Amino acid sequence: MKNIQQIKLGILGGGQLGRMLAQKAFDFNIQLYVLDPDKDCSCKFLGNFLTIGNFRDFDTVYQFGKDKDLITIEIEDVNVDALKQLQKEGVQVFPKPEHIEMIKDKGLQKMFYKEHHLPTANFLWMDEPNWMNLENKIPFVQKLRVGGYDGKGVSVIKNQYDASKLMQGSSLIEELVDIEKEIAIMGARNEAGQIKLFPVVELVFNDEANLLDYLFSPANVSIEIELKAKEIAGKLLQEMQFVGLLAIEFFVTKKGEVLINEIAPRPHNSGHHTIEANYTSQYEQMLRAIFNLPLGNTEAIQAAVMYNVLGEKGYEGVAIAQGIEKLCEMPGAKLHLYGKTITKPFRKMGHITITAKSLQEAVDEMNELKKYFKIIA
Ligand SMILES: Nc1ncnc2c1ncn2[C@@H]1O[C@H](COP(=O)(O)OP(=O)(O)O)[C@@H](O)[C@H]1O
Ligand SMILES: [Mg+2]
Repeated sequence: MKNIQQIKLGILGGGQLGRMLAQKAFDFNIQLYVLDPDKDCSCKFLGNFLTIGNFRDFDTVYQFGKDKDLITIEIEDVNVDALKQLQKEGVQVFPKPEHIEMIKDKGLQKMFYKEHHLPTANFLWMDEPNWMNLENKIPFVQKLRVGGYDGKGVSVIKNQYDASKLMQGSSLIEELVDIEKEIAIMGARNEAGQIKLFPVVELVFNDEANLLDYLFSPANVSIEIELKAKEIAGKLLQEMQFVGLLAIEFFVTKKGEVLINEIAPRPHNSGHHTIEANYTSQYEQMLRAIFNLPLGNTEAIQAAVMYNVLGEKGYEGVAIAQGIEKLCEMPGAKLHLYGKTITKPFRKMGHITITAKSLQEAVDEMNELKKYFKIIA
C-alpha cells in the first residue's frame, strides 16, 4: 500500500472549496493537482499544479485523471462518465462516481430518500412543468433537477400571481414546507466504514441574495431534534456506503419533524467554521475519508458564527477588502478570502469565522464587524 505522500491527488474544481482543501493538503505534504477552466480561479496560486480545462468535458477529465492515483471533487457538476472510466482503469475516485451522479440530480436524490425511508418533503417529478398541471398544487416549490445552486434553479410558488416564476426544464415539484429553521450536518465516512458527524449547525439565509447569511454552531435546537438529525445523517452515510465528506441540509418543520432538504458530496458552506471552531476541520476530515485514514475528532472547541463575505452592493471591478484593521482588532474573527480578483454584488468573496466563549459574544462581534468590513471595488 502506498504512503499518502506517494499518492497523486487530483481535485476537479479550483474554486474556494478546492483552495481550502489544498491548504489542508499542504499540511500533509500531499501531492496535489487541480483542474479548473478559469486561469484566475481561487487555486491559481498552485502554478503548474493547476491544469486549465473544463471538468464537464470527458476527454479533459480523463486526461487529467489518468496519471493520478486518487481523484476527488469540490463541485458535483463534473463529467461522471470520465470518472467511471478512470475508476475502471484503476484510479480511485471518492466520492464514488455513482454518488456524484445521483446527487447532481435533485430528482434522483429525492428518490433515494424515498426508497430508503429517509424523511423528506413530498415531491413529484415533471419533465415539462406547465401551469395547467400545477395550479392545483399551489403552494409548492419548483426545483430544476440539475444545475441549480445558491437558490438559482429554485422557485417558490405561493399563489396565482407567481405563475411567471415557473421555470422551464425537468423539475422536482416539492410541497412547500412550513420551516421553523434550517440546520445542517457535515458527515464523513471512510472506506473502512468509519462514520463521524460534526455537531449540528443552524443556517440563517439572506433572502435578497438567496445565499446563506450566517450560520452558528452549535445549533439552537432541542436534544430530540439534534438526535433525529444525527440519526438520519448516520443512516444516510451508511445506506449510501458513501466515501468522502457529505453535507446534509435539513428543514426542521414547525411540527418538529426533521426532513432532508438536499445533500452535497464535498466541502460545504455549512462546514467552513470547523477550520477554527472544531478539533478537525471539514477539509481535513475529507482528506482523511478519501485516503481511508482514521477520521478526526469533530467536537467543537468553542461556539462559532460564520458568515459569507459577499461583494458589496453597488461595486463591480477589481476587489478591495476594506476594514482589515477593524477585523484584526476583533478577538475572535478569522478572515478567509478566496483569491477572487473581481467583485460584484453578492459574489462570494470569502468568509469570516468568529469564535467566542458564548454564541452571543460571537454574534455581537459579527454584527459589529459587518459595519466595517466590506469588499468594494
Ligand atoms: N420544499 C421547500 N419548502 C420551503 N422552502 C424550501 C423548500 N425547498 C427549498 N426551500 C428554500 O429554498 C432554499 C434553497 O433550496 P435548495 O434546495 O437548498 O437549493 P440550493 O441548491 O439553491 O441550495 C432552501 O434553503 C430553503 O430556504
Ligand atoms: Mg441548499
